[in-house]
Amino acid sequence: MAAPAPGGYNGIVLRELPDADDVADPEPFAGEDHPMRQVTRQVAFEAGWSSGRAVKVSELFDSLADDWSADHVDDVKAAPVRDALIRGGVDPRGLWADLGSGTGAGTRILHGRVERLVAIDLSARMLANAPDLVPRVRADASVLPFESNTFDAVLQVNMLLFPAELDRILKPDGYFIWVNSLGDQTPIHLPPADVVAALPGSWSGVTARSGTGFWVVLRKP
Ligand SMILES: C[S@@+](CC[C@H](N)C(=O)[O-])C[C@H]1O[C@@H](n2cnc3c(N)ncnc32)[C@H](O)[C@@H]1O
Repeated sequence: MAAPAPGGYNGIVLRELPDADDVADPEPFAGEDHPMRQVTRQVAFEAGWSSGRAVKVSELFDSLADDWSADHVDDVKAAPVRDALIRGGVDPRGLWADLGSGTGAGTRILHGRVERLVAIDLSARMLANAPDLVPRVRADASVLPFESNTFDAVLQVNMLLFPAELDRILKPDGYFIWVNSLGDQTPIHLPPADVVAALPGSWSGVTARSGTGFWVVLRKP
């Protein structure tokens, strides 16, 4: 995986921490020509989302949901999420969201570690296969049914980035945690510097590799 740039992006600084002890290169899985990679970039940089695309993505993940936990081993996702919670300087207090929570890989890790948590996903089948640990909300991350400045922290594990809506629902000084569990082999992938570049305003934060992936913790200005 290409190392994230430690320098400034949009006037912010992304500090790169040393690799975690468990770092391993992911097996080749999803290259740059993966269809979801293109969707990811369009959504993050070109407002490339529509009601038609929402239906297609929802149907896709509905169809994958029943096998998701078995096929997409949660332990692989746990490593960078745990590391982000330990080394990312996040505050576990307040209201957190696992956005694009799927069958609950991130939810399982956050549950019991953060004060209050909501799991949000577009796919009803993914939510139905998630553990009944926290409130589960079916919603589109491009138009969330929450007031502005609602969340103290938002976690996204292998989930599309909707910069404007994320910025809206997160409180000032809130934490945004971006995880790609297979690094640049994750279908829904943006490297750390591009996450920063996609967000409005001057966000700052830290990033590190952990397990087969990486995490980024940013604070909303
Ligand atoms: C690659 S899966 C990751 C799921 C989970 N975070 C995990 O790591 O196992 C992406 C998830 O994002 C959800 N998703 C995609 N687009 C979304 C949107 N616009 N709003 C909310 N969830 C969305 C999908 O339904 C799917 O559950």
